[in-house]
Amino acid sequence: MQNFDIVVIGSGPGGYVAAIRAGQLGFKTAIIEREALGGVCLNVGCIPSKAMITATHMLHRAQHDFPTMGLNIKGGIDVDMKKLVGWKQSVSDKMSGGVKQLLKGNNVTVFQGQADFKTNKEITVKSSTGTESIQAKYFIVATGSRPIEIGGFPFDEKDICSSTGALAFDAIPKRIVVIGGGYIGLEISSYLRKLGTEVTILEAQSSLLAGVVDADCAQVVTRKLEKSGVKVIYGAKAKSQKKTKDGYEVTYDLNGKDEVVKTDKILVTVGRRPNGDQSNLKAAGIAVDERGFIKVDAQRRTNVAHIFAIGDICGQPMLAHKASHEGVMVPEIISGINRVYDAKTVPAVVFTDPEIAAAGMTEAEAKTKGYNDLLISKFPFAANGRAVSMMETDGFIKMIADKKTHVVLGIHIVGPEASNLISEAVLAIEMGARLEDIALSIHPHPTLGETMMEAAEAALGHAIHIIQKPLTSATKGAHA
Ligand code: NAI
Repeated sequence: MQNFDIVVIGSGPGGYVAAIRAGQLGFKTAIIEREALGGVCLNVGCIPSKAMITATHMLHRAQHDFPTMGLNIKGGIDVDMKKLVGWKQSVSDKMSGGVKQLLKGNNVTVFQGQADFKTNKEITVKSSTGTESIQAKYFIVATGSRPIEIGGFPFDEKDICSSTGALAFDAIPKRIVVIGGGYIGLEISSYLRKLGTEVTILEAQSSLLAGVVDADCAQVVTRKLEKSGVKVIYGAKAKSQKKTKDGYEVTYDLNGKDEVVKTDKILVTVGRRPNGDQSNLKAAGIAVDERGFIKVDAQRRTNVAHIFAIGDICGQPMLAHKASHEGVMVPEIISGINRVYDAKTVPAVVFTDPEIAAAGMTEAEAKTKGYNDLLISKFPFAANGRAVSMMETDGFIKMIADKKTHVVLGIHIVGPEASNLISEAVLAIEMGARLEDIALSIHPHPTLGETMMEAAEAALGHAIHIIQKPLTSATKGAHA
């Protein structure tokens, strides 16, 4: 029997961050992982998908933008899919290896195996070499989520895949049917299309990313995706699949009628579910809600006082950076620091082409919260010198502020580097910034960041690089 101060279960971006912080704070810490260090994010999620997106974006630019820039590639570009997937794997391995080093450097003991609660003070860790028991004063459950499987589409991760299988394709599929046009479906569809795959998306709702991101932002991506040749069928509910001699036939319901689409591969991305049915949480008396999320308070404490839960397992939004934020917080709380989870905004990014990123409220959310008078601007990347010089002008920054106070309520970006630009928006919202705070901060030229400054100026009525109505006595002194 081994004893620790803190045992973290799961080594994703929630768990490994928690273990490192616990180590930094001087706790005798252990972390348990049944698969690779870094969890879904580093190994079969965020990081490998970004590697594929980066490579295929470069390919696309070489094929489509290079000739305009006078860069001629003689004889075309061959895609060595096995090598590409190998490189993608090396990126994940490097990151996972980095986590291993960081854990070691912070004196965290790593156990490889499946952790299950025996009591609320003890877990067992089962591995190929046997089972051992571990006791701890505190536990942090960071066991994450897994892809939802739908009836009739059992994952074999070769032909009928979740994101895990799709990320591992070592040959470019000729045809793929993607069920679900959300975050994951669109990221994978975008890069497979750039590799030449014929992509058909079956989306149950009437638009892509419905209710997930600002509708204007989603529309820019939808238009570009459809222009690139991706076929989207709206209002389509996948029902079943049948193996045929040259692939699969997927049957879906469209307005009450059965339709069929032929394909070679099927990707199911209809959401993720928490792993609340695993790790024998019951033995510790940990309360789980009807959807499988562990119930926690604002300090991420479960109903059992010395057991905490962080990341996907304890609720929406199921995003890596929210998990990491909680991972830093919980060991600090255990050490006696008075902290609670009180983020004003959790940014969200969809790595489509162009990228979508958001922080704060949408217009509809602002209205529901009682902000009836809003200032809303949209500043296009086409009016930004850096975007033009990059040949990446699709999209805009949309800024939403309270008309009375000018306090920024929401910033929604669709365009180049939206994923990097959004951090300024997060800081602005966390600091309660007014439009003037952004507009009067000197942004370096020539950068995409100037778009943020101009969007704030536009909301105040006087952006320089778009034509707006002449200033009035009300808008003239807005900076004062
Ligand atoms: P999602 O919830 O984003 O989208 C699922 C889509 O599937 C919805 O549009 C829904 O209408 C549709 N759908 C559901 N059942 C269907 C059916 N039978 N037939 C056709 N369409 C159907 O789910 P997704 O893409 O699997 O992502 C899961 C989670 O993973 C996200 O909520 C997100 O939090 C996280 N994630 C975050 C990423 C990022 O931060 N960039 C990237 C990937 C995932």
